[in-house]
Amino acid sequence: MLAGGSRRSGANGGRSLRWDWNGWLTDSSITFFSCREHGKREASLIEKEFLLIHSELEREAPGSTASTERALASLPSLEGEVWTLDIGCGPGSATKVLLQALTGPLFALDIHRPYLDRLVLEALEAGLSHRLTVVEGDMASMPFPEASFDLIWSEGAVYVVGFERGLTLWRPLLKEGGFIALSDAVYLVDSPSPEVGRFWGEEYPTMTTVDETLLRARRAGFDVLDHFVLPREDWCDYYLPLEARLDFLEGEYEGDEAMETAIAAERREIDLWRRHGDEVGYAFFVLRRRP
Ligand SMILES: C[S@@+](CC[C@H](N)C(=O)[O-])C[C@H]1O[C@@H](n2cnc3c(N)ncnc32)[C@H](O)[C@@H]1O
Repeated sequence: MLAGGSRRSGANGGRSLRWDWNGWLTDSSITFFSCREHGKREASLIEKEFLLIHSELEREAPGSTASTERALASLPSLEGEVWTLDIGCGPGSATKVLLQALTGPLFALDIHRPYLDRLVLEALEAGLSHRLTVVEGDMASMPFPEASFDLIWSEGAVYVVGFERGLTLWRPLLKEGGFIALSDAVYLVDSPSPEVGRFWGEEYPTMTTVDETLLRARRAGFDVLDHFVLPREDWCDYYLPLEARLDFLEGEYEGDEAMETAIAAERREIDLWRRHGDEVGYAFFVLRRRP
C-alpha cells in the first residue's frame, strides 16, 4: 500500500500552487506520495557530488522522444484506461511523452525528490498533471498492490537493481498479460576491448549482450514483443548537455577535491563512449508478462 504522507489540496479545482504539509509543491490536480523510509536508505548511498552534477539536465540516461514513441508503437493497442507506472522516472523526459500518449492514471516513481519536484512543475505547466501521481520511493520495494498496472515503463533505471532482478521484482505489479518497456545498457560486441570491459564491469557488473538480455527477460517470465538498439543521437542527447554542465561546474568548484574527482569520473565515461561507442549501447526491450 502507499505509505507516508499523501493528500490532495484545494477543493475548488483552482490552479494556485502552494506547499502542502508534506513539503510538496501542489495544486488540486496532482497527487503526491512520499515513502521516505524506502527513499532514505538508498538515497544516502548516492554521493552529493553526483547529485549536483546530475541536476538541471533534461534526461538522465541515453534516450529520446523518438525512441520512447517507437517503443510505445510496438505495444498492441491498449484499450480503455491504461494504468501505468514509470520507474526511476528522473526529471520525467519519458513520463511527459507517456502522459501525452496514454489515457488513464500514471504513477511516476523516483528516489530523488528534486526530480519529482521538477516533473510536477513541468506537468502542471503543460496541463498534463491531472492523471499524474508522483511517488518518492525505492524501486526495490514499491508500495503498490499486486496486479496494479497494465504497463510498466523504465528508461535507463533498471541497472540500479539489475535487469533480471528488476523484472522479477516488478512482474507481480503487472496485471496478467500486462506490458513492460525498459531500456538498459548492453554490450554490442561479444568481446569488448579490455578498457571497456574493465570500466563497465565495475559500473554495471551484470551488464551483458542484447541476446543474453533477451534470454534473461524470457527466464523472468516475459515474452519479447520488440527490441531495438538506441541510435547514437540518443547518447548525444544525454552526454552533450552533461558535458556542458561539467564545464560549468568545473569553473564553479575549482579546488574542491571531491567535485573534481566526480567530474573526472563523468568525463572518463564520455571519453570512453567517444572512442569505443560501437562496443556499448542502450537497448529498449518491450515485453509481455506471461501468465
Ligand atoms: C539514469 S537515471 C534515468 C532517469 C530517467 N528515466 C531518464 O531517462 O532520464 C536513473 C534514475 O533512477 C533513480 N533511482 C536511483 N536509485 C533508485 C531507487 N533505488 N529507487 C528509485 N529510483 C532510483 C535516480 O534518481 C534516477 O532518476
